[in-house]
Amino acid sequence: FLTLAEDEYTYAEGTSNGPENWRNLNPKWKVCGDGKLQSPIDIQLKGVMELPQLGKLEKHYKPAPAVLKNRGHDIMLQWSGDAGRFNINGTYYSLKQCHWHTPSEHKLNARKFDMELHMLHQNSQGEVAVISICYEIGCPDPFLSKLLKDIKSIGDKDIDIGVINPETIKFGKGKYYRYVGSITTPPCTEGVTWTVMKKVRKVSKEQLEVLKGAVHHGYEENARPTQEVGERQVWLYTKK
Ligand code: MLT
Ligand code: ZN
Repeated sequence: FLTLAEDEYTYAEGTSNGPENWRNLNPKWKVCGDGKLQSPIDIQLKGVMELPQLGKLEKHYKPAPAVLKNRGHDIMLQWSGDAGRFNINGTYYSLKQCHWHTPSEHKLNARKFDMELHMLHQNSQGEVAVISICYEIGCPDPFLSKLLKDIKSIGDKDIDIGVINPETIKFGKGKYYRYVGSITTPPCTEGVTWTVMKKVRKVSKEQLEVLKGAVHHGYEENARPTQEVGERQVWLYTKK
């Protein structure tokens, strides 16, 4: 039987540890409720502004050893070596880890997708930039296919899965949305540069079930509700 630690958060809306109450679970988590730059958001196309100057995504990833971890609220693949980086306006952000949310956290014109992959990067200042890729049900995702057996058997242990090349996560350098938000789990720290890829990719039903079944609490969902956009501008990069 599972008992929650006092400040352990869940995704169950309307409960004392649910998303509306994350701010109350720990004094350091107040920004989850008070912040004006929270993520995820519902990207409303009518409010989006095209900005070709954002430029194509400059990513330079490389193969590095990785460990698969069950964090309870999600499954994470953490690189332990230098897995490369991507460049935003001359600032380099190194790839640290990726993890999956089911269903998606971001929405597009109020529409949710079946899954969202987050690639979390950090610069030398410790500032975070996340690349997000959304998926809907269809054929299997080749990146998840390679990891599926390990995700199935993970339980509570960490699994060394050897060298993983982040380039095998398929997403283009093409169109993407850009805005400033937060991490989507407590402590909900703000100042995160979000890059949400416009193209929606495919994941199989089986892969989704394996991911959902693997998290400790058997969460059906591990997606934070969308947050107020407020005064923020969402940009769209498309090549002119
Ligand atoms: C996020 O994408 O903001 C995450 O879920 C943060 C994390 O890795 O805990
Ligand atoms: Zn995430």
